[in-house]
Amino acid sequence: MEEVDFSPVSMYLTSPAVRDRSQSRYCFFTKNNQMKDFINRLFSDPEMLRMGHAQQLENHNLGLGWIYYALGRLFRSERAVVIGSYRGFVPAVFAKSLQDNNEGGEVVFIDPSYVDNFWEDSDKVRQHFADLGLSNISHYRNTTQEFVKTGAYRALSNIGVVMVDGYHSAEQARFDYLSFMEKMAEESMFLFHDSVQQRTSTVYGDDRSYEHTVCQLMDRMQETPGLETITLPFGSGVTLVTGRPDTLEYINKPFENEAPEQVISTTA
Ligand SMILES: C[S@@+](CC[C@H](N)C(=O)[O-])C[C@H]1O[C@@H](n2cnc3c(N)ncnc32)[C@H](O)[C@@H]1O
Repeated sequence: MEEVDFSPVSMYLTSPAVRDRSQSRYCFFTKNNQMKDFINRLFSDPEMLRMGHAQQLENHNLGLGWIYYALGRLFRSERAVVIGSYRGFVPAVFAKSLQDNNEGGEVVFIDPSYVDNFWEDSDKVRQHFADLGLSNISHYRNTTQEFVKTGAYRALSNIGVVMVDGYHSAEQARFDYLSFMEKMAEESMFLFHDSVQQRTSTVYGDDRSYEHTVCQLMDRMQETPGLETITLPFGSGVTLVTGRPDTLEYINKPFENEAPEQVISTTA
């Protein structure tokens, strides 16, 4: 039988171009599996499916989380800031995206633990995120009002994304926005959750119900020259805001029934 010369085939298979391509395919599948594993771990806690981010357990769908993840990968910023989270869905998804960038990005997470004691113990908080494979989240058990008085706040700059998901009054969302406006990177974005409709929330207890009025701030931002907004009305909705306001005049006008003292400042 005639002998076949395989050397051209073996030369092709071991050529740098083919090696690179199969390496990148390997990386893609590995990363894909890591993402599946992350979502499995995230959704093993049913609480991570709450709070209106359009998540779906049955098909491993992060819902708005895909947008958060994509923005983290796209802006590739040194840091993202998340104000408020029930069980850490948003800080975790941003942290995962910055971790996958492999550029040392971190999440600054601000939450005073007003719903319950979930964010009170710093060791448990660290473990909570470590169980999701994340070590790039720094939690500050503060309100935004408290956080802006800290050295950690003063040291902040170059923020790619700020997620505003704390106390959902228009006044508090404005305070959150103004607090971080000057600390943003040139390419950056604010996200406002629960931004599409006014509604009553009892998340702090039936006796502490309050009105979500973030949509009133969104109306003002839409009318402010220099800003661009886009609202994704899925789950409780999120509004993406880019640009720099030419003026803060409209944004800073008092809201109807403005009562800043309504912003809760103590635990129940
Ligand atoms: C539960 S999450 C998401 C909001 C929820 N969708 C709702 O119905 O209000 C709100 C989080 O914001 C935090 N929070 C409340 N007031 C805050 C403030 N002034 N600054 C930062 N975080 C705050 C709370 O501790 C809570 O964990």
